[in-house]
Amino acid sequence: MENTTEKKKRVLSLIQPTSVPTLGNYLGAFKNWKAMSREYDCLFGVADLHALTVRSEPATLRSQTQQMLAILLSLDLNPEENIVFVQSHVHTHSELSWILNCYTQFGEASRMTQFKDKSCKHADNINVGLFDYPVLMAADILVYQSDFVPIGADQKQHLELARNIADRFNGVYGPTFTIPEPFIGKQGARIMSLQDPTSKMSKSDTNPKASVSLLDTPDVIMKKFKSAVTDSEACVRYAEGKDGINNLMTIYACCTGLSFERIEADFAGKGYGDFKSAVAEAVIEELRPMQEEYARIIKDKAYITESARSGAEKALYLSQKTLRKVQKKVGLWQA
Ligand code: TYM
Repeated sequence: MENTTEKKKRVLSLIQPTSVPTLGNYLGAFKNWKAMSREYDCLFGVADLHALTVRSEPATLRSQTQQMLAILLSLDLNPEENIVFVQSHVHTHSELSWILNCYTQFGEASRMTQFKDKSCKHADNINVGLFDYPVLMAADILVYQSDFVPIGADQKQHLELARNIADRFNGVYGPTFTIPEPFIGKQGARIMSLQDPTSKMSKSDTNPKASVSLLDTPDVIMKKFKSAVTDSEACVRYAEGKDGINNLMTIYACCTGLSFERIEADFAGKGYGDFKSAVAEAVIEELRPMQEEYARIIKDKAYITESARSGAEKALYLSQKTLRKVQKKVGLWQA
């Protein structure tokens, strides 16, 4: 007989509230979060503690955290069944993070490429938090015994570190943590800048034309795609060296579900102008339901606050079990 009470696998992922998320965040992460939220037991969060690694105005961080939570609540993540929360509201993350620091080697943390990149970008503020960032991310994941972590390609190395820390801890103290698996979509795992298609589309890009924000109006989205950097071949095909067109084809494929072959056939003999407009239209349609929901939710501060409170309460309940187990195993006295 089929076991209908079989436990659902657990999924967790977070996003930093550094500014309005981009189409890269949406296609690399949110779209997979939405798909997984129907099938798994999910936790989705706003990584406000991670955002402290880069200096920002306190009032800005607070309002961006609320705005990011409102965006998550607008994504149709099935919040009745899943947990949506803010990282700093759940103290177990930071507590586990300290313990995991003591099971992470300086050498392995030093190899993180994102630390090296961010140290160059923020050369005037290379703080210890920036270095320790992946250990807090490991705590986020391990404290819930997560099975799958949907992320874009840029977070893969951090996930490998989380797996290594979990494996090392389990080796010393016996089975304690579930070893998490990354979930990286086949398409959309690395959406590139519209102005420099050899670098990742990023929330922190200073050129506003380089990235599409999830709250951009349809007009702005159209303009940004129209000014996207392409090449001089004037032929819509996926090929090496055609980074701009490859990126636009990837975005179009993610939004429409069409294969590259079909896209090439549909746009055979047509110019880049037509193709750029079609990509922009597809993105506008993809984002429309989320944008409409967001416009409604952002006005309802009481709902946002209440969602944060109830998310934190549920997340705390789940995570405390792991933290207690770990504290006991490492020898912390639980008087
Ligand atoms: P963050 O805030 O930089 O990005 C959130 C998610 O979006 C993905 N992403 C992209 N995917 C495709 N193309 C792009 N151009 C692109 N840019 C960003 C990221 O891979 C990520 O999945 N450290 C994490 C936040 C975090 C976290 C966690 C994630 C904290 N704790 C625990 C998973 C599990 C970060 O900075 O993501």
